[in-house]
Amino acid sequence: MSALTRSPAWQALEAHAATARRLCLRTLFREDPSRFETHSLTAGPIFIDWSKHLVTGETRQLLLSLARQQGLEAAIGDLFGGALVNHTERRAALHTALRDRSGQPVLFGGRDVMPGVRDVLARMRRFSDAIRDGSLRGHTGLPFDAVVNIGIGGSDLGPSMVVEALRAHGRDDLRVRFVSNVDDTHLVETLRDLDPARTLFIVSSKTFTTQETMTNAASARQWLVASLGDAAAVGAHFAAVSTNVGATAMFGIPSDRVFEFWDWVGGRYSLWSAIGLPIAIAVGMDRFEALLEGAHAMDRHFRSAPLDINGPAVLGLLGVWYANFLGCATHAVLPYDQYLHRLPAYLQQLDMESSGKRIDRSGDPVEHATGPVLWGEPGTNGQHAFFQLLHQGTQMVPADFIVAARGVRQLGRHHDILLANCLAQTQALAFGKTEAEAYAEMERAGMSAGEARRLAPYRTFPGNRPSTTILLEALTPSSLGALIALYEHRVYVQSVIWEINPFDQWGVELGKQLAGGVLSTLESRQGGVDLDASTRGLLTRIALAGDAPPAQGSR
Ligand code: F6P
Repeated sequence: MSALTRSPAWQALEAHAATARRLCLRTLFREDPSRFETHSLTAGPIFIDWSKHLVTGETRQLLLSLARQQGLEAAIGDLFGGALVNHTERRAALHTALRDRSGQPVLFGGRDVMPGVRDVLARMRRFSDAIRDGSLRGHTGLPFDAVVNIGIGGSDLGPSMVVEALRAHGRDDLRVRFVSNVDDTHLVETLRDLDPARTLFIVSSKTFTTQETMTNAASARQWLVASLGDAAAVGAHFAAVSTNVGATAMFGIPSDRVFEFWDWVGGRYSLWSAIGLPIAIAVGMDRFEALLEGAHAMDRHFRSAPLDINGPAVLGLLGVWYANFLGCATHAVLPYDQYLHRLPAYLQQLDMESSGKRIDRSGDPVEHATGPVLWGEPGTNGQHAFFQLLHQGTQMVPADFIVAARGVRQLGRHHDILLANCLAQTQALAFGKTEAEAYAEMERAGMSAGEARRLAPYRTFPGNRPSTTILLEALTPSSLGALIALYEHRVYVQSVIWEINPFDQWGVELGKQLAGGVLSTLESRQGGVDLDASTRGLLTRIALAGDAPPAQGSR
């Protein structure tokens, strides 16, 4: 047993979990009229109701003891203070500096990083304003009406999720699109209705070596040069966001179109940096800065609120409670907001690339579960798809319901119906319907006693299925910034408890390495001698299939 799982706080939680599994939320609410008040909190602009969780006052105290035992408060200081929290890569994780609006210095290695941060923000403002007002033009003198971001992972998911979330603030005459997949259909379908003379590409890549991004960028450059008939057009139609300034120059992007960021910004924490340039172009720099403000409000809360009313700490500790003590292997994120339809995909990278780790900070295998599988879809769509399993399946899936009190659009009763569904689902999950209630309901509806008895077990909802309701006043750039930062810090809290590094991602390397070998075998059409039988067999089948004729599109 590891020191963590042997520790007093961990052991106490294990002992407590045996009884907590049998907790009944109906009873907890009946016996404590103030449960909602004592199990809810305000974090920046966000209200969090965590009363519908399988926790008692004792659970809460035991989780806080675990947090203190693991040094959570000091670890929060380390994060903001520029300590090398990413110990395997010997890096800080100072994404909070990118949205620091305090005017105070943020020191890293004895130097204030804020002048550099402000300088890049000012350049982003000039550039995005010039695209939006049409003063910056393409090679043939036309203003841009489309911006295509080419990136993947953190260089795609954050900005694309935010652009979708803030679509209400976008402009119809300036389309902002994202290409990530190396599957050529993604690039081809994205470009097929665009005018090359009015299209700007942003190549976003921290390393500027990622195979998918560089392949897409090269094909985009070919498309542009072939259409405009002049290789010199590249300088006017490409910008780059990267830490690898040398490689951007090699690609042919002029230095005044290269937006820098730094090693201390992890890919999945980078939307606050110049990686957010497509956001600034889509909705304007003022709104991008409002996004930063919202995140900064959450940072202030995370740094200063006592742990028991600290949003990221409470959500992180609940994550630990379910993953390690109640055996939950997955966690659902259910935004009741169509604008947030890409949030689950974004959070999958944030959470699973950060928490999918098996080696602890001392280099030993962990002896406890780490990150659960995170998944989700917007409500109400999920209700008509997978909610059946949430309500009556055999697994417990803790779920986050995210909703805004006020809708962005004001179309008829839509928002009230959305809200009602969101709240009703959390009610149904928590309080369920007993067999007696199901029976009585059918009897009242005029069903025969025999038929009602037969169907009652199927129409019973066990309840006691945990959920958090995350309530925004409205979805704005600022509340969105706070929401994203809430999840970022939740991931950090869990990593501190689990003693893992949430800022590296060695697990993505092996596939990349092997793809190199497979690709050369595939392209040389010669069976690789040291390939395993399965890969060799599949390559043979692929070779036999030959090259399919190119698809004939309507355009
Ligand atoms: O393969 C994983 C990863 O390294 C992510 O962590 C990162 O966000 C993504 O690839 C893209 O990397 P880059 O921005 O360097 O192209």
